[in-house]
Amino acid sequence: MANVILVGAQWGDEGKGKIIDVLTEQSEIVVRTAGGNNAGHTVYIGRDKYVLHLIPSGILRPGKVCVIGNGVVLDPVALVGEIDGLEKLGVKVTPDNLRVSETAHVVFPWHRELDGQREVRKGTNKIGTTKRGIGPTYGDKAARVGLRVIDLINPTRFPAKLKERLEENNEVLRALGAQPLDHDEILAAYTRAADRLRPYVANTVVHLHEATRRGANILFEGAQGTFLDIDHGTYPYVTSSSTTAGGACTGSGVPPNRMDKVVGVLKAYTTRVGEGPLPTENAGVSDLLHGMGREFGATTGRARRCGWFDSVATRHAAMVNGIDELALTNVDGLDTVKTIRVCVAYRVDGRTVQHIPNDWEVLARCEPVYQEFPGWEVSTETVTRWEDLPVNCRHYLLSLAQLTGARLTIVSVGPAREQTMFL
Ligand code: IMP
Repeated sequence: MANVILVGAQWGDEGKGKIIDVLTEQSEIVVRTAGGNNAGHTVYIGRDKYVLHLIPSGILRPGKVCVIGNGVVLDPVALVGEIDGLEKLGVKVTPDNLRVSETAHVVFPWHRELDGQREVRKGTNKIGTTKRGIGPTYGDKAARVGLRVIDLINPTRFPAKLKERLEENNEVLRALGAQPLDHDEILAAYTRAADRLRPYVANTVVHLHEATRRGANILFEGAQGTFLDIDHGTYPYVTSSSTTAGGACTGSGVPPNRMDKVVGVLKAYTTRVGEGPLPTENAGVSDLLHGMGREFGATTGRARRCGWFDSVATRHAAMVNGIDELALTNVDGLDTVKTIRVCVAYRVDGRTVQHIPNDWEVLARCEPVYQEFPGWEVSTETVTRWEDLPVNCRHYLLSLAQLTGARLTIVSVGPAREQTMFL
């Protein structure tokens, strides 16, 4: 399978967790390269449901090595909680199957506080963040004042660095009218987490290069989605990391010429959590999916906004990520729909546009131009072979791939590993 980058080609929550889990079977190493515990990857194995936030879902398969790369922002207390949670479920997490980059930046309580405070100040213009401190941590990284894992696990260096950063951030919090944070509490909690994590910490760049030299297959798992990318998303309604394919290189230290393939994961419709424009949003589609008990966020439990498939957006995603192959998920979500709509262009200010506008205010005014497809109106949940899918379903899925501009190779009709078809 060689080295594969997997990206979300919409607004996140495309069902990447499951596709990553399926592709992991063919990989030796799985690397997370961006984001933090804002992500939530849900994987079902038999009757067990696992929600992973920081640890790559490869951890659920014995013998796989998981890497948290340098591009990730890491809340060490949350990571220890995730390790303990997995162990309680019988999943072994050891320094042999989890490596954490020395240079990943650390999320602190003031980042979470500032995340919340900035949202309050934005009022109706809020981003709708997960309040995990992601934006302020990447902000500190870019401003070159962040602390990295290498600082966290160094007991002689960490206390002084923590003190210095906390003093500055407490001044900011006071100026914003928020409560300052307690130094001793943070020092104790972060020292405890550092002691637990120290054995996992490694120079992951060197480790990954050694692995590529001996021909190991590596899966680079994306978090969030293309339109949440700090550069290519619907700014400012985005997350703060590079969620597109390029982020897999910068977030791992593995260069572009070592990558072999980009797989884009898409839902058969569109969803988004948080604020920001979503041209194909549709109350009927939201009601249908929520009524089926689906489309609630894995991290915050928020109901996702839902709408029809937007091929203007996915074409853009195919371009920016260089998507070779598509995995279409949640196909069964449309099983009961009589007529399915797909956005093929936008109308805005009296013009028809084929590209997603960069100005979010223009995007928010875009009216979708729809093409209609007849639904299949039977359950696809138990189908295990592409040939056995209803003809209308196959036609719909192949049309989505054609409109997006990449080859359809994986179809998923439910959360279980078995509900996956390969073309
Ligand atoms: P942040 O990443 O917490 O700063 O949130 C910024 C935006 O990205 C908000 O709209 C979030 O809802 C969205 N977001 C962050 N992580 C995810 C995810 O894993 N899935 C879907 N949306 C996400």
